[in-house]
Amino acid sequence: MKSFKNKIAVITGAGSGIGQALATELAKKGATLIISDKNADTLSVTENLVQKIGADCYTYVVDVSVEKEITDFASKIIKKFHHIDLLFNNAGFALGKISLKDVKMDDFRKIMDVNVYGVVYHTKAFLNSLLERPEAVIVNISSLFGLVGVADQVPYCTTKFAVRGFTESLRMELMDTNVEVYCVHPGGINTNIYKNAIHYEKNASLDAKFQKALERTSPEQAAKVILKHIEQKDEKVLIGIDAILGDRLARTMPVGYSKIIKRMSDYITKN
Ligand SMILES: NC(=O)c1ccc[n+]([C@@H]2O[C@H](COP(=O)([O-])OP(=O)(O)OC[C@H]3O[C@@H](n4cnc5c(N)ncnc54)[C@H](O)[C@@H]3O)[C@@H](O)[C@H]2O)c1
Repeated sequence: MKSFKNKIAVITGAGSGIGQALATELAKKGATLIISDKNADTLSVTENLVQKIGADCYTYVVDVSVEKEITDFASKIIKKFHHIDLLFNNAGFALGKISLKDVKMDDFRKIMDVNVYGVVYHTKAFLNSLLERPEAVIVNISSLFGLVGVADQVPYCTTKFAVRGFTESLRMELMDTNVEVYCVHPGGINTNIYKNAIHYEKNASLDAKFQKALERTSPEQAAKVILKHIEQKDEKVLIGIDAILGDRLARTMPVGYSKIIKRMSDYITKN
């Protein structure tokens, strides 16, 4: 997509972090924003930022994990705007560091519902509309943890590998259509996801060590990288040196990478 001017973009999880930055960067490029989040307060912060830039902005409070809310949301949008051009499946959360033996099944199901089914519901709900456009884009936010699996992050990695599988297979399915399908793998991005993680309290000091050892990319920078990739039709998006190295490691040492990442992680934890 060469230009975002006058294009209609839906962004989920737009009240914070990468979603908020995508909204403001797209606003600067002349897009109309339809933004959603489960948190009405943070969503209105993003709305103000977008309106200050001068773009049209419409807000919807929805929980991406509730299928009926998403089908109703999509129907309302298509009725009001007749179409959308871009769908950013961004909403997601993390549990924080926890071993599989300690994780509660309710938390495992919840993260699957939000991080995976949220993406599936939105994609299915908007796909027919996107297929009718001369050019259209679906952007799914996976993670570095959708490229490498890591200890004490089994549920989160499961969701992000699922998003990657969903995205890459859909990309092939839509190859002869006007819809491009992007899979985004951010490394560490400096957002609220760490503090909002269910087990953050237990992991706060550990998180500080990781943040110090591995500098995180800003959400604004992440949004700029994503939009640049869309402009260049480059459908695999790696954000940050950690994601670039993780991708290379997983491809060149598909089994051995676990040992290397474990040693690195143990070193950071102990120092
Ligand atoms: N920050 C990172 O280091 C990082 C790295 C890789 C991938 N990601 C992914 O990027 C995406 C954005 O995360 P972020 O870092 O900006 O986090 P964030 O916590 O700053 O923002 C996530 C937003 O999603 C919303 N959200 C969460 N659950 C929701 C639900 N059920 N329904 C509607 N909205 C919901 C939250 O309210 C929040 O506004 C997520 O999918 C995350 O997994 C983040």
